[in-house]
Amino acid sequence: MKKAIIAPLAIIFIAMACKSKQATTTSTIASPGIDAQLAAVQVRFPDATKDELQKGHDIYTGACTKCHDTKDVIAYAEPKLLEIVDVMAGKAHLTAPEKQALIRFAVGVRATSK
Ligand code: HEC
Repeated sequence: MKKAIIAPLAIIFIAMACKSKQATTTSTIASPGIDAQLAAVQVRFPDATKDELQKGHDIYTGACTKCHDTKDVIAYAEPKLLEIVDVMAGKAHLTAPEKQALIRFAVGVRATSK
């Protein structure tokens, strides 16, 4: 009886693990995994969510690649990066929540890429 319950649960768990992995393999920049990134981001922004990081990732690989290829977010010290993002968010016509999602995504990538 117990086994009959555990097996489907195990399948759901494995399916979820695969799914969360899939979400981060769309770009090598997110390779450390969105869960690790979220944990790192929440140290500084406790209200950050997985959806927000995913949104930041989508902006980074979408709107931010209209004029150039993806730029390396870990190549700059954070104050410089934030300065650049200020200018680029304007170029990409990001809303304030979109810019925040992008910054948090970058913070997560940086924190988990060291
Ligand atoms: C309207 C066009 C345009 C959009 C949209 C755009 N950029 Fe840029 N970006 C540029 C240009 C032009 C440069 C300078 C030339 C270069 O480095 O390719 C640049 C340079 C950069 C640099 C290097 C800056 C430096 O001083 O080394 C980074 C990083 C960057 N962009 C990030 C982003 C991010 C993140 C986004 C999304 C929010 C974005 N860009 C969206 C046009 C754009």
